[in-house]
Amino acid sequence: MRLLQLLVLPLAIAGTSVTMTGLALAGDAAKGEKIYRKCKACHALEAGKNKIGPTMHGVFGRTAGAVEGFKYSKAMKASGIVWDETTIAAYLADPKGYIPKNRMAFAGLKKEKDRDDLIAYLKEATQ
Ligand code: HEC
Repeated sequence: MRLLQLLVLPLAIAGTSVTMTGLALAGDAAKGEKIYRKCKACHALEAGKNKIGPTMHGVFGRTAGAVEGFKYSKAMKASGIVWDETTIAAYLADPKGYIPKNRMAFAGLKKEKDRDDLIAYLKEATQ
């Protein structure tokens, strides 16, 4: 019995810290929804609806510059980027730095926490 406790306790602690790390990394979608207000003027969430920017519907897994009927910059189309958590975060941190000459008139989200929260929201809202 004693031996079992000695074995189980470290495992339980290891499990807890893994879970807590997971929570710390995941963004807060409710906060992200508020941050998305910065994008709303230019990006719709509905499929097929383009505004000043292309729709965000289905953006995860999509190749940059691929929305039918939206007129992208050459830079965006030639980038070859596939949008996922990492690439969207890098683009939003510094749009002009990540894809020079792309046409999105947005200064960027400087805070990592804001980007994480926004991406958590986008994952739900762009399905
Ligand atoms: C002033 C309008 C404007 C704002 C604000 C804006 N965008 Fe954009 N966005 C654009 C335009 C225009 C493009 C296309 C750029 C190009 O073709 O070079 C674009 C492209 C994108 C793309 C690439 C889409 C694709 O189909 O390849 C993503 C992802 C994106 N924006 C996310 C966001 C997010 C998230 C926000 C808010 C934090 C935001 N944008 C704010 C106008 C905007």
